[in-house]
Amino acid sequence: MSLPSKVKLVDVGPRDGLQNEKQTVPAAVKIELVHRLQDAGLKEIEVTSFVSPKWVPQMADNAQVMAGIQRKPGVRYSVLTPNLQGFEASVAAERQFWPDEIVVFAAASEAFSQRNINCSIAQSIERFRPVVEAARAKGIYVRGAMSCAVGCPYEGDIAPERVAMLAGMMKDIGVQHIGVADTIGTGTPVKVQRAVEATLRHYAINDISGHFHDTYGQALANTLTCLHMGLWQFDASVSGLGGCPYAKGATGNVATEDVVYMLHGMGIETGIDLDKLIDAGKFISDFLQRKSGSLAATALFNKRA
Ligand code: HMG
Ligand code: MG
Repeated sequence: MSLPSKVKLVDVGPRDGLQNEKQTVPAAVKIELVHRLQDAGLKEIEVTSFVSPKWVPQMADNAQVMAGIQRKPGVRYSVLTPNLQGFEASVAAERQFWPDEIVVFAAASEAFSQRNINCSIAQSIERFRPVVEAARAKGIYVRGAMSCAVGCPYEGDIAPERVAMLAGMMKDIGVQHIGVADTIGTGTPVKVQRAVEATLRHYAINDISGHFHDTYGQALANTLTCLHMGLWQFDASVSGLGGCPYAKGATGNVATEDVVYMLHGMGIETGIDLDKLIDAGKFISDFLQRKSGSLAATALFNKRA
């Protein structure tokens, strides 16, 4: 399989990256981060989640953040919606503030499903069904996320068969695109390849993306494996921010800067200006008073000085 010549990256930093932050990140900072990411050339940004503020307090300002963004033509803005209540909240404002895309998120592990969204996998699919219908009726694109597609913090390794089953359930209810998520970053290339192969039983390669947390330093290797399988869409998080509050010990997504550095070094286009992306990462890292989680950004930043 030849490598793709172009790759689309979705920066999930404002959502996955910040959802687990203990300190309050003001809406203005989140909005500025989104602006910097779009200025750097990101074509899709996962902005926030319309989830329960009791479960994820950091995302409680979801509507304020969505309303504060000065949208750039050609950029898609996505949000997580776990149920109809969340979806309705995401479209409660005027149309100009609606998301272009929503994400319904299930897990290939029963234990993680219970901990993260307080219901079984089957119940989650029944909850998503009306969400998918309502979103598609409004012309909003529906992406699905499959958490724990490789490993689970409570159940350990997850069999590819379970990933295939979940992908089939998502397909049946009309989810248009599916993300294979390594929530806790335990995946290694062959395991990730098997999870993607399982997903391919139900979704075409053009409708699958990779979402790799980098807890064990495997995310770039997993990304490369997927590129060789023909995948060309990946989530990543600026500065490698993030983690899921219901996946203890899991660190952030692969840093967008590291993925861009690798892809550009392979002659693969992303449309992203790495210098501007590094500045966006510096902006949020400075706010959080934390070192960047991107090795490429750190090396390139030090070279500037
Ligand atoms: P529940 O407690 O079972 O919900 O939570 P409920 O329907 O029984 O309602 C209980 C209360 O929550 C009620 O309020 C509802 O109004 C409220 P009360 O009457 O007690 O005041 N509520 C809501 N409020 C705002 N927005 C909503 C909403 N729904 C109910 N949408 C629920 C079920 C799904 C809501 C909860 O478990 C939840 O919000 N979970 C979200 C957890 C989360 O956001 N996790 C992180 C994102 S997933 C992730 O990071 C993984 C991913 O990156 C891929 C990967 O890496 O694996 C995507
Ligand atoms: Mg995630």
